[in-house]
Amino acid sequence: MSFTVAIDGPAAAGKGTISKAVAAHFGFAHLDTGLLYRAVGRRMLRGEDPVAAAQSLRAEDLQGDDLRGPEVAQAASKVAVIPEVRTALVDFQRAFATRAGGAVLDGRDIGTVICPEAQVKLFVTASAEVRAERRFAELAAKGLNVTFEGVLEDVRARDARDAERATAPMVAAADAVALDTSDLSIEAAVARAIAVVGAARQGA
Ligand code: CDP
Repeated sequence: MSFTVAIDGPAAAGKGTISKAVAAHFGFAHLDTGLLYRAVGRRMLRGEDPVAAAQSLRAEDLQGDDLRGPEVAQAASKVAVIPEVRTALVDFQRAFATRAGGAVLDGRDIGTVICPEAQVKLFVTASAEVRAERRFAELAAKGLNVTFEGVLEDVRARDARDAERATAPMVAAADAVALDTSDLSIEAAVARAIAVVGAARQGA
């Protein structure tokens, strides 16, 4: 039987950490759908047409440290505006979501477009400053040459592009549970998410 957990929210809100922890706790598979858009964005930076790239995405496109960097993030949010790019990635995401044994998908449009029937929907947020602090610490720890101001600018630009695009904009599903992590430790945020998923599983 499938059981889908959809976790959406803006850049660096903590979706990745929460999704991984929820998946590990319940033994579900996890898909970071941002990586698909990042992979397409990276291929565009290398000179490819983004629609053709999305239509021919391969497992090896998801490898490499630069995939998580800010330059690829910006390119990802630019290709994510293109309806044909999004369409090309739908089937893979839906198949993942409905696999036996349960799945957690995190992104921007999982609860609204990819899996409107998900058993659990979370919309994870935090203030732009808190998110930029977290992402700055993460990137600096990896040795990337970034500044807090630069990361904040990146987060704000992507939030605006993601929220304002016409196709599958970033928005909380009407039935999503909101989780503001601005004043929560990561442990507390994970505990809340696990509690929400656990309650839904009891009822499923
Ligand atoms: O990790 P972070 O939150 O910074 O970004 P990400 O989840 O890796 O996503 C990178 C970009 O891909 C986002 O800014 C969105 O433009 C796009 N994206 C999307 O449009 N839809 C998704 N389901 C996931 C990501």
